Amino acid sequence: MIQVQNLTKDYGQLRALDNISFTIPKGEIVGFLGPNGAGKTTTLKIMTCFMPPNSGNIYIDDLNIYQNSIQIRKKIGYLPEGCPLYGEMNVIDFLKFVAELRDIQKNIINKRIKEMIQTCGLKDVVHQEIGELSKGFRQRVGLAGAMIHNPEILILDEPTSGLDPNQIAEIRELIKRLGKEKTVLISTHILREVEATCDRVIIIDKGKIVADGPLTEIQNSFHNQNRVYFEIQADTKMLIEEFESLPDIDNVQLYEQPARQALAGGEDSLYKFYVNFSKDKDIRPDLYNFIKSKEWILFEMRAEQYSLEDIFRQLTEKGEETN
Ligand SMILES: Nc1ncnc2c1ncn2[C@@H]1O[C@H](COP(=O)(O)OP(=O)(O)OP(=O)(O)O)[C@@H](O)[C@H]1O
Ligand SMILES: [Mg+2]
Repeated sequence: MIQVQNLTKDYGQLRALDNISFTIPKGEIVGFLGPNGAGKTTTLKIMTCFMPPNSGNIYIDDLNIYQNSIQIRKKIGYLPEGCPLYGEMNVIDFLKFVAELRDIQKNIINKRIKEMIQTCGLKDVVHQEIGELSKGFRQRVGLAGAMIHNPEILILDEPTSGLDPNQIAEIRELIKRLGKEKTVLISTHILREVEATCDRVIIIDKGKIVADGPLTEIQNSFHNQNRVYFEIQADTKMLIEEFESLPDIDNVQLYEQPARQALAGGEDSLYKFYVNFSKDKDIRPDLYNFIKSKEWILFEMRAEQYSLEDIFRQLTEKGEETN
């Protein structure tokens, strides 16, 4: 169990983390999501005892970062941003080197290296120099190095950044497999990364946690079913305004500019738009009756879930408005 408690970190005048707290139970794969500069890497560096916070603490089981940093480091495998490696070393020498740094018992080093080569799919490149490997393979070597001491917790900072789509898929598969045995925290600003690999997501923006929960729960709590997509053919230029003036509606968002509807001719246009509302009740029947009373032609009406991308944008843009 990882408990991050009231962490604050300043770099000079800049408050990079502002009193953040979250808990990660054993065995979860958590996505740590936020735009550039949100404070992801800063949080991970503090978790891995690379630097101290200004205030707050992190507990891993009953250990904490001030009193037990060596034990904590043993429990954690860390793949830093950009994954620094020794380019002139070959893969096997590098893994030996990391294993020795990690103080792994001599008699099991070879066994651990073999396991890592197997787990991370490095069999064909063991004797190659790291500097000559493709990015995807270098990332695998980084992961192998991060896991050589068989840590319970894996902390990965942007593990798929810069990889091609095939490599991304492979690394994601690998992370999912590892997640069956380990607690994994992945920092990313790529939403699909989280959707593809994580059970839960923590969204950070400007040093503050703005959302935390299982993906589906966040999606549900966030205007679940409170968005309806419409396609309506109408002979008015004021259709959007008419919808906006109805009770219970937060706002109306055009999906695309209305196009003159060829089918009907005349002044009719086809409007495609979303109606967003924050009430619990389903207002589709009311909207349908309204459309009927206007004698507009309804082509499509469907309730939509917000995608993680919409949620992310709303949460992180809201912050900008208040600043
Ligand atoms: N060593 C440092 N000295 C001064 N400011 C720093 C330092 N490291 C980070 N910062 C600042 O702290 C803020 C948070 O940075 P951090 O690297 O944690 O963001 P991030 O969420 O990892 O972003 P990215 O997605 O770009 O990796 C940023 O404004 C950054 O410029
Ligand atoms: Mg970062």
